[in-house]
Amino acid sequence: MHEAALREQLVELARSLFQRGFSVGSAGNISVRLPDGYLMTPTNSSLGRLDAQRLSKLDLAWHHISGDKPSKEVFMHRAVLTARPDAGAVVHLHSTHATAIACLAAVGETAPIPPLTPYFVMRVGRALPVLPYHRPGDGAMEQGIHEAAKTARAVLLANHGPVVSGRTLEDAVAAAEELEESARLALMLRGMPARALTPAEVDDLLTTFG
Ligand code: 13P
Repeated sequence: MHEAALREQLVELARSLFQRGFSVGSAGNISVRLPDGYLMTPTNSSLGRLDAQRLSKLDLAWHHISGDKPSKEVFMHRAVLTARPDAGAVVHLHSTHATAIACLAAVGETAPIPPLTPYFVMRVGRALPVLPYHRPGDGAMEQGIHEAAKTARAVLLANHGPVVSGRTLEDAVAAAEELEESARLALMLRGMPARALTPAEVDDLLTTFG
C-alpha cells in the first residue's frame, strides 16, 4: 500500500479504536513501516482526531523528518519493529482490561491471559510477556521490549498497557482488539471453572493459521 493510502488507513483505524473506547484522551500510539522510514502518531494527539497530513514521519534511522513531533514512545515502536522484521505496524494502547491484567500480573509472567478462544491464539500467539514498569517515554525499556518482541507478537507493560505488532496495520489493530477482549473475558471468568484451550488445541491453531 502506498504512503498516502497508509496515512488514510491509519487515521481511519485509529478513529475506530477511539470511538469504540479502546483508547481515551490522548492515550495510545501507532506506527507503520514504510519503504523509506516510519509513520507515527504525533505526541499528545487523540487517536480519534488524527490528521493524515500531520502524522509524524521518521526516516530509516528513526529521525523525525516531517509532520508533527512524534509520540514519546518512538523507542517502544523501534524496539518491536527492529526485533520483528516481518512486522509492518505496532499499536500501543492503554485499553482497560489488558491494562488491568498488566496491573495484576507478576512481572516476568509469559501467559497472563489463558488461551480461552481461538482468535486470541491466532492473533496474539502463545506468549504474552509482562515487562517491568517504566514511566511513559522512558527509553530504558527499549532493550527489554526488543528482546521480548523477538519471540512474542505482543507484550504487556506492567501498570501501563499492551504493545502489539502485526504483519500489516490492520493485523496489528485486530490483534490489539483481540487482546483487549481476551483480557476482558479472562477477568470476567476469574474464579470460575472456565475451560482453556488445551496445548494440543493451541498447537493445532498455530499450525493451521500460522
Ligand atoms: P504520546 O502522546 O507521546 O504518544 O504518548 C501516549 C502514550 O500512550 C504514552 O504511553
